[in-house]
Amino acid sequence: MENKFAKWGLKNQKEAKVTIREILEKMKKELKNDDERPMIHLGHGDPSAYSSFRTTPVAEEAVNGALRSAKFNGYAPAAGLPESRRAVAEFLSKDLPYNLSEEDIFITAGAAHAIELILTVLAQPGANILLPRPGYPSYEAHSSFVDLEVRHFDLFPEKDWEIDLDGVEALADVNTVAMVVINPGNPSGSVFTWEHLRKIAETAKRLGIVLISDEVYYDLVFGGNKFVPMGVFGSVTPVVSLGTMSKRWLVPGWRLGWIALSDPNGILEKSGITECIKNYRNISADSTTLIQGAIPEILEKTPKDFISNIVVLLREAADACCSQIMEIPFLYLPQKPQGAMSTMVKLNLDMLEGIEDDMDFCFKLAKEESVLILPGSVLGLKNWLRISFAADLASLEEGLHRIKAFCCRHSNMIM
Ligand SMILES: Cc1ncc(COP(=O)(O)O)c(C=O)c1O
Repeated sequence: MENKFAKWGLKNQKEAKVTIREILEKMKKELKNDDERPMIHLGHGDPSAYSSFRTTPVAEEAVNGALRSAKFNGYAPAAGLPESRRAVAEFLSKDLPYNLSEEDIFITAGAAHAIELILTVLAQPGANILLPRPGYPSYEAHSSFVDLEVRHFDLFPEKDWEIDLDGVEALADVNTVAMVVINPGNPSGSVFTWEHLRKIAETAKRLGIVLISDEVYYDLVFGGNKFVPMGVFGSVTPVVSLGTMSKRWLVPGWRLGWIALSDPNGILEKSGITECIKNYRNISADSTTLIQGAIPEILEKTPKDFISNIVVLLREAADACCSQIMEIPFLYLPQKPQGAMSTMVKLNLDMLEGIEDDMDFCFKLAKEESVLILPGSVLGLKNWLRISFAADLASLEEGLHRIKAFCCRHSNMIM
């Protein structure tokens, strides 16, 4: 019999890649109800659950003020409130060799929405996009929904997780529309040097592809390398940067992000991409007007020491996390994180018994120890693990202690 429903095109749903949210939800179902110990979540980059990671009172007051003013109860223009776009442009311009204008900024419902928007705009029949491995799986998932072919380039774990640029050149062809760079790195915690970023920009220029720079962790860096926004190289090649309040202000639930076009030569405008973003923005969902109303005050008044205090907390957490990992012989840490909120470790499966792979490790860990961490295969690296250190020190230490106990219990070594 003819299948009348075939026309519904559910292909994308079947092919859609696993997302972080989905796998963590599945893992939570594995938690034992009878474990009296609290669940420890080292699986996501959301520190807002911990009181030490609370946003600045400036942000809370700004939202309060915006609410009480009753000025932000209506619909905002599609690209965002002009004053919010201006405020983001000024904030980003401080770190750039030229000024961005209100027209260069599009307000989005978090960076997740910015990803959806830019990938939808770039997708066309036969097009492909170059994504980092390991990376952030929302890119793969959205690409799948808009029929954008994904090609992965590698990052070198032993070389500060730098991009294999020869690999990028080898992957690209006439149908390649863009490459994605995540800096500071999720999942690796890497922070790229000025020199590496310049080489990336030159590669993108040579290939004639859009450079998408995911900067959701912006200046949350605590290692030797300073954060350099990719927009600094906007005159080498046009850069589409994605930003958010989620991490820097510790408020992922507020859902405010942006797309910034760093393109002093007007290439994106001439090629029609800017117009296409405007058109798509007209039909896609908005960030709430209330938070948009608060953002100018938040950006202007957030004290410098709020950010430097978060950086101190993250550095302490990263240090504690790394020194405990180094005491677990079953895990290999190629590089200490220099920024962001997580690190990648390689699983030494040869030393473990009854553990098939990273997925099996994480599910059994959840079941036996009530600790959630992310399997590397979700991020493109099989038999690696992502450990998020965006937690308070006590939880982090207890979580790693339980991971060690789990490994020892499953060890095939004589201990
Ligand atoms: C690399 C990366 N890009 C984008 C996002 C999405 O950010 P948002 O919470 O603002 O939607 C995240 C969130 O964890 C992320 O780590």
